[in-house]
Amino acid sequence: MKNCDLNVTIGKIALKNPVMVSSGTFGFGEEFEGFIDLNQLGAVISKGISLTPMVGNPPPRIFETEGGLINSIGLQNPGFQEFLKSKLPYYRHLKTKLIINFFGNTQKEYIELARRFDGIPGISGLEMNISCPNVKRGSIVFGVDPQMAFHLVRSVRKATTLTLIVKLSPNVTDIALMAKSAEEGGADAVSLVNTFRAMAINIHSKKPELGNIIGGLSGPAIKPIALRMVWEVHQAIKVPIIGMGGIMNAEDAIEFILAGASAIQIGTANLINPRAGMEIIQGIRKYLLQNKIDRIQKLIGAFV
Ligand SMILES: Cc1cc2nc3c(=O)[nH]c(=O)nc-3n(C[C@H](O)[C@H](O)[C@H](O)COP(=O)(O)O)c2cc1C
Repeated sequence: MKNCDLNVTIGKIALKNPVMVSSGTFGFGEEFEGFIDLNQLGAVISKGISLTPMVGNPPPRIFETEGGLINSIGLQNPGFQEFLKSKLPYYRHLKTKLIINFFGNTQKEYIELARRFDGIPGISGLEMNISCPNVKRGSIVFGVDPQMAFHLVRSVRKATTLTLIVKLSPNVTDIALMAKSAEEGGADAVSLVNTFRAMAINIHSKKPELGNIIGGLSGPAIKPIALRMVWEVHQAIKVPIIGMGGIMNAEDAIEFILAGASAIQIGTANLINPRAGMEIIQGIRKYLLQNKIDRIQKLIGAFV
């Protein structure tokens, strides 16, 4: 066998391979241009975009831990208008698929953004980050309440014809229940996981290592938990799953695919090795050829 088929489909998005780069870990693409050929990637996901600009949290915003990274960037971004003006033109030059990660502070903001992105040329899909507090409902995070998530996804679904991916928070008791709510609300796919709430203290200064005290843990430390969650979600829903959380190499990526992910995202690994995405695509291809598997589709959920 000399070749294998890496094509996968997420909603209406046909991907040439299942490897994407995750939101917030790949800037707006441009920053990585000198390191890798972005066109080789299955898709790029933008940094999270909100209706209006956000300055983010006070520094320090990144702290390295054993096998991971805690970040409290606080969803800093230029806002919808500025994104269209200064960031989208670069993405439009790329031959890979662009998925916009977005979020709102209220249901109305989520709907408004989904409506605005709909029909903009060069955008293949939306990844909706529901790990944000609903400011109107006493800061309950949309992504931890199944009812709230269902109503939010259902209303956003009506506002866009683009493929809608709902990005789930792992900070819940039952992630399969959250995935089911997203599916019932009309999501074309779910992606998981976002970061785990975490913190670190400097024992010498007795101060928190992050300006915001609490941040989100990512990287290899979370991989086994993320993998378990992907497998649980795979058993609960029918729409495709995009798996992520500590994927550092092709072996990790294959584990997620075997657990039920149709595609995967690379996050923290990009910050350590900007070529991680390329190497993972090559590694997956090598694995398929060595094991005489002609199509990646055969691997999805093939865990026994
Ligand atoms: C510095 C940083 C910024 C992030 N920003 C976002 C963001 O804007 N929106 C989002 O949905 N996830 C964001 N994430 C979460 C990642 O996309 C990913 O879900 C998480 O890091 C787990 O994957 P990993 O362990 O491979 O990094 C961010 C993560 C990091 C490390």
